[in-house]
Amino acid sequence: MSPLSSTWQCPSNIAIVKYWGKKGFQLPANPSVSFTLQECTTTTTLQAFQHPGRRNPEVQLYFDGEYNEPFTHRARNYFHELAATLKWLKSYDFEITTTNNFPHGAGIASSASAYGALGLCLASIEQALGLTDSENFLQRASFLARLGSGSASRSVYGGWVIWGKTLFQDKSSDKYALPLDTQQIHPLFLTLQDSIIIVSDQSKSVSSTVGHGMMQNHPYAKLRYARANEHTQKLISILQQGDWESFAHICQTEALDLHAMMMTSENPFLLLKPQTLQWIEWIKEWKIQENLKITYTLDAGPNLHILYPDTESIKVRKHIENALERSETLKVIHDRIGQGPMPLTSQTLKNG
Ligand code: DP6
Repeated sequence: MSPLSSTWQCPSNIAIVKYWGKKGFQLPANPSVSFTLQECTTTTTLQAFQHPGRRNPEVQLYFDGEYNEPFTHRARNYFHELAATLKWLKSYDFEITTTNNFPHGAGIASSASAYGALGLCLASIEQALGLTDSENFLQRASFLARLGSGSASRSVYGGWVIWGKTLFQDKSSDKYALPLDTQQIHPLFLTLQDSIIIVSDQSKSVSSTVGHGMMQNHPYAKLRYARANEHTQKLISILQQGDWESFAHICQTEALDLHAMMMTSENPFLLLKPQTLQWIEWIKEWKIQENLKITYTLDAGPNLHILYPDTESIKVRKHIENALERSETLKVIHDRIGQGPMPLTSQTLKNG
Protein backbone atom coordinates (compact mmCIF):
# COMPACT_ATOMS: atom_id res chain seq x y z
CA MET A 1 0.00 0.00 0.00
CA SER A 2 1.38 3.45 -0.86
CA PRO A 3 2.15 5.66 2.11
CA LEU A 4 0.26 8.88 2.76
CA SER A 5 2.63 11.74 2.07
CA SER A 6 2.77 15.51 2.48
CA THR A 7 5.48 18.12 1.86
CA TRP A 8 5.52 21.69 3.22
CA GLN A 9 7.96 24.55 3.25
CA CYS A 10 7.59 26.56 6.45
CA PRO A 11 9.46 29.73 7.47
CA SER A 12 10.86 30.60 10.87
CA ASN A 13 9.52 33.59 12.81
CA ILE A 14 10.89 36.20 15.18
CA ALA A 15 8.92 37.26 18.24
CA ILE A 16 8.67 40.90 19.26
CA VAL A 17 6.76 40.09 22.47
CA LYS A 18 8.52 36.95 23.71
CA TYR A 19 7.17 33.60 24.83
CA TRP A 20 9.36 32.71 27.81
CA GLY A 21 7.75 30.49 30.44
CA LYS A 22 5.12 27.75 30.17
CA LYS A 23 2.15 26.48 32.11
CA GLY A 24 0.44 23.08 31.83
CA PHE A 25 1.40 21.11 28.73
CA GLN A 26 3.02 23.37 26.13
CA LEU A 27 0.82 26.34 27.02
CA PRO A 28 2.40 29.80 27.19
CA ALA A 29 2.60 31.74 30.46
CA ASN A 30 1.98 34.95 28.48
CA PRO A 31 0.84 36.00 25.00
CA SER A 32 3.50 36.52 22.32
CA VAL A 33 3.50 38.41 19.02
CA SER A 34 5.81 37.64 16.09
CA PHE A 35 6.21 38.14 12.40
CA THR A 36 6.97 35.29 10.06
CA LEU A 37 10.15 35.44 8.00
CA GLN A 38 10.32 34.99 4.23
CA GLU A 39 13.71 33.50 3.45
CA CYS A 40 14.69 31.22 6.34
CA THR A 41 12.66 28.06 5.85
CA THR A 42 12.46 24.34 6.62
CA THR A 43 11.20 21.89 4.00
CA THR A 44 9.73 18.67 5.33
CA THR A 45 8.19 15.57 3.80
CA LEU A 46 6.17 13.36 6.12
CA GLN A 47 5.29 9.85 5.02
CA ALA A 48 2.81 7.73 6.97
CA PHE A 49 2.95 3.93 6.52
CA GLN A 50 -0.14 2.09 7.69
CA HIS A 51 0.25 -1.14 9.69
CA PRO A 52 -2.42 -3.54 10.95
CA GLY A 53 -1.59 -3.20 14.70
CA ARG A 54 -2.30 -0.51 17.28
CA ARG A 55 0.83 0.75 19.01
CA ASN A 56 3.02 3.81 19.40
CA PRO A 57 4.38 4.81 15.98
CA GLU A 58 7.93 4.10 14.86
CA VAL A 59 9.51 7.37 13.76
CA GLN A 60 12.68 8.00 11.77
CA LEU A 61 13.99 11.42 10.84
CA TYR A 62 16.45 12.22 8.04
CA PHE A 63 18.04 15.66 8.23
CA ASP A 64 19.98 16.95 5.18
CA GLY A 65 19.80 13.47 3.65
CA GLU A 66 21.18 11.58 6.67
CA TYR A 67 19.52 9.71 9.51
CA ASN A 68 19.68 11.99 12.58
CA GLU A 69 19.45 10.32 16.00
CA PRO A 70 18.89 13.39 18.29
CA PHE A 71 16.22 14.84 15.97
CA THR A 72 14.60 11.38 15.65
CA HIS A 73 14.50 11.13 19.44
CA ARG A 74 12.68 14.46 19.84
CA ALA A 75 10.29 13.70 16.96
CA ARG A 76 9.55 10.21 18.35
CA ASN A 77 8.66 11.70 21.77
CA TYR A 78 6.43 14.21 19.99
CA PHE A 79 4.56 11.50 18.07
CA HIS A 80 4.21 9.33 21.17
CA GLU A 81 2.77 12.23 23.19
CA LEU A 82 0.36 13.02 20.35
CA ALA A 83 -0.65 9.34 20.01
CA ALA A 84 -2.02 9.39 23.57
CA THR A 85 -4.93 11.49 22.26
CA LEU A 86 -4.75 11.16 18.45
CA LYS A 87 -5.60 7.50 18.15
CA TRP A 88 -5.13 7.35 14.35
CA LEU A 89 -1.37 7.76 14.84
CA LYS A 90 -1.28 4.30 16.43
CA SER A 91 -2.05 2.68 13.06
CA TYR A 92 0.92 4.31 11.28
CA ASP A 93 4.72 4.52 11.30
CA PHE A 94 6.36 7.75 10.11
CA GLU A 95 9.36 8.82 8.09
CA ILE A 96 10.36 12.48 8.17
CA THR A 97 12.77 13.96 5.62
CA THR A 98 13.72 17.52 6.43
CA THR A 99 16.18 20.25 5.52
CA ASN A 100 16.78 23.90 6.47
CA ASN A 101 17.96 26.55 4.00
CA PHE A 102 19.71 28.48 6.79
CA PRO A 103 22.77 27.37 8.81
CA HIS A 104 22.22 25.50 12.06
CA GLY A 105 22.99 27.75 15.04
CA ALA A 106 22.40 30.91 13.02
CA GLY A 107 20.17 32.35 15.75
CA ILE A 108 17.12 31.58 13.68
CA ALA A 109 14.56 29.52 15.53
CA SER A 110 14.88 26.20 13.70
CA SER A 111 12.38 24.45 15.98
CA ALA A 112 9.77 27.05 14.90
CA SER A 113 10.11 26.26 11.20
CA ALA A 114 10.73 22.53 11.81
CA TYR A 115 7.64 21.91 13.92
CA GLY A 116 5.66 24.41 11.86
CA ALA A 117 6.38 22.28 8.79
CA LEU A 118 5.66 19.05 10.65
CA GLY A 119 2.35 20.40 12.04
CA LEU A 120 1.31 21.37 8.50
CA CYS A 121 2.26 17.93 7.12
CA LEU A 122 0.34 16.18 9.90
CA ALA A 123 -2.72 18.40 9.35
CA SER A 124 -2.55 17.60 5.60
CA ILE A 125 -2.52 13.88 6.32
CA GLU A 126 -5.42 14.28 8.75
CA GLN A 127 -7.25 16.12 5.99
CA ALA A 128 -6.59 13.28 3.53
CA LEU A 129 -8.04 10.89 6.12
CA GLY A 130 -11.10 13.12 6.48
CA LEU A 131 -10.22 14.06 10.09
CA THR A 132 -9.71 17.82 9.55
CA ASP A 133 -11.75 20.12 7.33
CA SER A 134 -10.16 22.80 5.18
CA GLU A 135 -11.84 25.63 7.12
CA ASN A 136 -9.90 24.79 10.28
CA PHE A 137 -6.77 23.59 8.53
CA LEU A 138 -4.27 26.26 9.65
CA GLN A 139 -5.65 26.40 13.17
CA ARG A 140 -5.23 22.64 13.40
CA ALA A 141 -1.68 22.85 12.00
CA SER A 142 -0.87 25.57 14.55
CA PHE A 143 -2.26 23.41 17.37
CA LEU A 144 -0.17 20.41 16.26
CA ALA A 145 2.95 22.56 15.74
CA ARG A 146 2.61 24.07 19.23
CA LEU A 147 2.77 20.64 20.83
CA GLY A 148 6.20 20.16 19.21
CA SER A 149 7.56 23.65 19.93
CA GLY A 150 5.60 26.63 21.23
CA SER A 151 7.04 29.22 18.85
CA ALA A 152 6.20 26.91 15.91
CA SER A 153 2.48 27.56 16.48
CA ARG A 154 3.06 31.06 15.02
CA SER A 155 5.03 29.94 11.93
CA VAL A 156 2.06 28.34 10.14
CA TYR A 157 0.76 31.83 9.20
CA GLY A 158 2.39 34.61 7.22
CA GLY A 159 2.65 38.23 8.41
CA TRP A 160 1.96 39.22 12.03
CA VAL A 161 0.82 36.50 14.39
CA ILE A 162 -0.34 36.28 18.01
CA TRP A 163 -0.28 33.22 20.26
CA GLY A 164 -1.71 33.11 23.77
CA LYS A 165 -5.01 34.11 25.33
CA THR A 166 -5.37 37.84 25.86
CA LEU A 167 -8.32 40.16 26.36
CA PHE A 168 -6.82 42.47 23.76
CA GLN A 169 -7.30 40.14 20.81
CA ASP A 170 -10.58 38.50 19.89
CA LYS A 171 -10.48 34.70 19.60
CA SER A 172 -6.89 34.51 20.86
CA SER A 173 -5.99 31.18 22.43
CA ASP A 174 -3.24 29.42 24.38
CA LYS A 175 -3.79 26.34 22.21
CA TYR A 176 -3.02 27.79 18.80
CA ALA A 177 -1.88 31.01 17.18
CA LEU A 178 -3.93 33.44 15.07
CA PRO A 179 -2.84 35.79 12.28
CA LEU A 180 -3.38 39.51 12.90
CA ASP A 181 -5.55 41.06 10.21
CA THR A 182 -3.20 42.57 7.58
CA GLN A 183 -5.83 45.21 6.75
CA GLN A 184 -5.40 46.56 10.27
CA ILE A 185 -1.58 46.78 10.11
CA HIS A 186 0.13 50.02 9.10
CA PRO A 187 2.18 49.73 5.85
CA LEU A 188 5.37 50.54 7.78
CA PHE A 189 5.14 47.16 9.48
CA LEU A 190 4.14 45.22 6.37
CA THR A 191 7.52 45.81 4.74
CA LEU A 192 9.63 45.12 7.80
CA GLN A 193 13.18 43.97 7.07
CA ASP A 194 15.21 41.72 9.39
CA SER A 195 18.98 41.56 8.92
CA ILE A 196 20.24 38.78 11.15
CA ILE A 197 23.78 39.37 12.37
CA ILE A 198 25.48 36.04 13.03
CA VAL A 199 27.72 36.82 15.98
CA SER A 200 28.19 33.13 16.78
CA ASP A 201 27.17 29.95 14.99
CA GLN A 202 27.81 27.72 18.01
CA SER A 203 24.87 25.76 19.45
CA LYS A 204 23.31 27.36 22.52
CA SER A 205 24.70 26.29 25.90
CA VAL A 206 21.16 26.19 27.35
CA SER A 207 18.20 25.13 25.19
CA SER A 208 15.01 27.21 25.07
CA THR A 209 13.06 24.33 26.60
CA VAL A 210 15.38 24.33 29.64
CA GLY A 211 15.19 28.15 29.75
CA HIS A 212 11.38 28.04 29.88
CA GLY A 213 11.66 25.60 32.81
CA MET A 214 13.75 28.12 34.74
CA MET A 215 10.81 30.54 34.75
CA GLN A 216 8.96 28.13 37.10
CA ASN A 217 10.58 29.45 40.29
CA HIS A 218 11.89 32.66 38.85
CA PRO A 219 11.82 35.58 41.32
CA TYR A 220 10.63 38.02 38.62
CA ALA A 221 8.23 35.70 36.75
CA LYS A 222 5.02 37.46 37.81
CA LEU A 223 6.37 40.85 36.85
CA ARG A 224 7.66 39.53 33.53
CA TYR A 225 4.30 38.00 32.56
CA ALA A 226 2.50 41.24 33.48
CA ARG A 227 4.91 43.22 31.30
CA ALA A 228 4.50 40.83 28.36
CA ASN A 229 0.72 41.28 28.62
CA GLU A 230 1.09 45.06 28.71
CA HIS A 231 3.49 44.97 25.73
CA THR A 232 1.06 42.79 23.78
CA GLN A 233 -1.74 45.29 24.27
CA LYS A 234 0.52 48.20 23.29
CA LEU A 235 2.06 46.42 20.30
CA ILE A 236 -1.32 45.60 18.76
CA SER A 237 -2.26 49.28 18.66
CA ILE A 238 1.26 50.42 17.65
CA LEU A 239 1.11 48.07 14.64
CA GLN A 240 -2.17 49.67 13.63
CA GLN A 241 -1.02 53.26 14.14
CA GLY A 242 2.42 52.93 12.53
CA ASP A 243 4.23 54.47 15.50
CA TRP A 244 7.87 53.50 14.83
CA GLU A 245 9.42 54.95 18.01
CA SER A 246 7.01 53.08 20.29
CA PHE A 247 7.59 49.92 18.25
CA ALA A 248 11.37 50.32 18.61
CA HIS A 249 10.99 50.77 22.35
CA ILE A 250 8.97 47.57 22.78
CA CYS A 251 11.37 45.56 20.58
CA GLN A 252 14.38 46.54 22.66
CA THR A 253 12.65 46.21 26.03
CA GLU A 254 11.37 42.72 25.18
CA ALA A 255 14.76 41.58 23.85
CA LEU A 256 16.56 42.75 26.99
CA ASP A 257 13.80 41.45 29.30
CA LEU A 258 14.24 37.99 27.77
CA HIS A 259 17.98 37.98 28.44
CA ALA A 260 17.51 39.60 31.86
CA MET A 261 15.29 36.63 32.79
CA MET A 262 18.11 34.27 31.84
CA MET A 263 20.67 36.25 33.83
CA THR A 264 18.51 36.45 36.97
CA SER A 265 17.20 32.87 37.17
CA GLU A 266 18.20 30.49 40.03
CA ASN A 267 20.84 28.99 37.71
CA PRO A 268 21.80 32.11 35.79
CA PHE A 269 23.08 31.87 32.25
CA LEU A 270 24.30 34.39 29.74
CA LEU A 271 23.88 33.93 25.98
CA LEU A 272 24.96 37.42 24.85
CA LYS A 273 28.49 37.93 23.52
CA PRO A 274 30.63 41.11 23.53
CA GLN A 275 29.92 41.40 19.78
CA THR A 276 26.17 41.46 20.46
CA LEU A 277 26.61 44.52 22.69
CA GLN A 278 28.94 46.12 20.16
CA TRP A 279 26.27 45.82 17.44
CA ILE A 280 23.61 47.24 19.79
CA GLU A 281 25.85 50.28 20.35
CA TRP A 282 26.37 50.71 16.59
CA ILE A 283 22.63 50.61 15.96
CA LYS A 284 22.13 53.39 18.52
CA GLU A 285 24.83 55.47 16.80
CA TRP A 286 23.37 55.01 13.28
CA LYS A 287 19.91 55.86 14.51
CA ILE A 288 21.07 59.16 16.01
CA GLN A 289 23.46 60.08 13.17
CA GLU A 290 20.88 59.71 10.43
CA ASN A 291 17.58 59.71 12.28
CA LEU A 292 16.96 56.20 10.97
CA LYS A 293 13.93 54.06 11.60
CA ILE A 294 15.87 51.15 13.02
CA THR A 295 15.67 48.87 16.05
CA TYR A 296 16.68 45.36 17.09
CA THR A 297 15.49 42.24 18.81
CA LEU A 298 17.13 39.07 20.09
CA ASP A 299 16.10 35.46 20.18
CA ALA A 300 17.44 33.05 22.82
CA GLY A 301 21.01 33.48 21.58
CA PRO A 302 23.71 36.08 20.82
CA ASN A 303 22.70 36.88 17.23
CA LEU A 304 21.06 40.21 16.62
CA HIS A 305 17.99 40.82 14.47
CA ILE A 306 18.21 44.37 13.06
CA LEU A 307 14.72 45.60 12.13
CA TYR A 308 13.84 48.48 9.77
CA PRO A 309 11.19 49.30 7.16
CA ASP A 310 12.24 48.78 3.54
CA THR A 311 12.42 52.57 2.98
CA GLU A 312 15.59 52.47 5.13
CA SER A 313 17.13 49.41 3.43
CA ILE A 314 19.84 51.16 1.39
CA LYS A 315 21.19 53.20 4.29
CA VAL A 316 20.98 50.42 6.89
CA ARG A 317 22.58 47.79 4.67
CA LYS A 318 25.45 50.12 3.88
CA HIS A 319 26.10 50.56 7.61
CA ILE A 320 25.91 46.79 8.09
CA GLU A 321 28.39 46.08 5.29
CA ASN A 322 30.85 48.64 6.70
CA ALA A 323 30.46 47.31 10.23
CA LEU A 324 31.01 43.72 9.09
CA GLU A 325 34.40 44.74 7.72
CA ARG A 326 35.57 45.96 11.14
CA SER A 327 34.06 43.20 13.28
CA GLU A 328 34.71 39.52 13.88
CA THR A 329 31.08 38.81 13.14
CA LEU A 330 30.59 35.80 10.90
CA LYS A 331 28.00 37.11 8.48
CA VAL A 332 24.56 38.55 7.90
CA ILE A 333 21.36 36.99 6.54
CA HIS A 334 18.98 39.57 5.06
CA ASP A 335 15.40 38.45 5.64
CA ARG A 336 12.02 40.19 5.89
CA ILE A 337 8.39 39.74 6.83
CA GLY A 338 6.96 36.94 4.70
CA GLN A 339 3.88 35.36 3.23
CA GLY A 340 3.90 32.17 5.29
CA PRO A 341 4.25 28.47 4.47
CA MET A 342 3.80 26.82 1.09
CA PRO A 343 2.58 23.31 0.29
CA LEU A 344 5.02 21.64 -2.08
CA THR A 345 2.90 18.61 -2.80
CA SER A 346 -0.68 19.67 -2.58
CA GLN A 347 -2.25 16.24 -2.76
CA THR A 348 -1.74 13.51 -0.23
CA LEU A 349 -2.07 10.03 -1.69
CA LYS A 350 -5.47 8.66 -0.86
CA ASN A 351 -5.20 5.49 1.13
CA GLY A 352 -6.56 2.54 -0.80
C1 DP6 B 1 13.05 32.95 22.95
O1 DP6 B 1 9.39 27.61 21.09
O2 DP6 B 1 11.87 27.13 21.19
O3 DP6 B 1 12.32 32.14 20.83
O4 DP6 B 1 8.19 25.37 23.24
O5 DP6 B 1 10.19 24.53 24.47
O6 DP6 B 1 10.11 24.38 21.96
P1 DP6 B 1 9.67 25.15 23.19
O7 DP6 B 1 10.39 26.56 23.14
P2 DP6 B 1 10.62 27.52 21.90
O8 DP6 B 1 10.86 28.89 22.67
C2 DP6 B 1 11.23 30.02 21.95
C3 DP6 B 1 11.33 31.19 22.80
C4 DP6 B 1 11.87 32.43 22.13
C5 DP6 B 1 10.81 33.53 22.07
C6 DP6 B 1 9.68 33.33 21.12
O9 DP6 B 1 9.88 32.80 20.00
O10 DP6 B 1 8.56 33.76 21.47
